[in-house]
Amino acid sequence: MNQNVPTIIFVCTTCRSAGEAFEPETGRSGFKFYEALKHAIDADKRFKIQPVECLSSCDKSCNVTFAAKNKWSYGFSGLDALSQTQDVIDVAKLHYETPDGVIPWFERPESIRTKSTSRTPPLPT
Ligand code: FES
Repeated sequence: MNQNVPTIIFVCTTCRSAGEAFEPETGRSGFKFYEALKHAIDADKRFKIQPVECLSSCDKSCNVTFAAKNKWSYGFSGLDALSQTQDVIDVAKLHYETPDGVIPWFERPESIRTKSTSRTPPLPT
């Protein structure tokens, strides 16, 4: 197993829900989602959280991507910043625990199961 490689959770901090103001940026749903995930993960060494500005799925906020060295990467869209923090962490755990990063569909939390919008193979070594 590849358990020593942390799963990086990229979170789009600039995502906005419909009708949400552009400013302040810290008021956007994406930024709040990032803050909630960062707080929930705290010092858990299995994960690293990385804020990013735009994951190119702006019309489907909020957005996160899971990635790790030598593993498949997954993007998830249409996430709710307030209610799906724990579900995102549960998916990150699945990504961390699998040797190749493939996140088993049936083990994903139901609320997030169909929210995967991209799946990218690991870079060739
Ligand atoms: S602003 Fe979040 S994906 Fe573009």
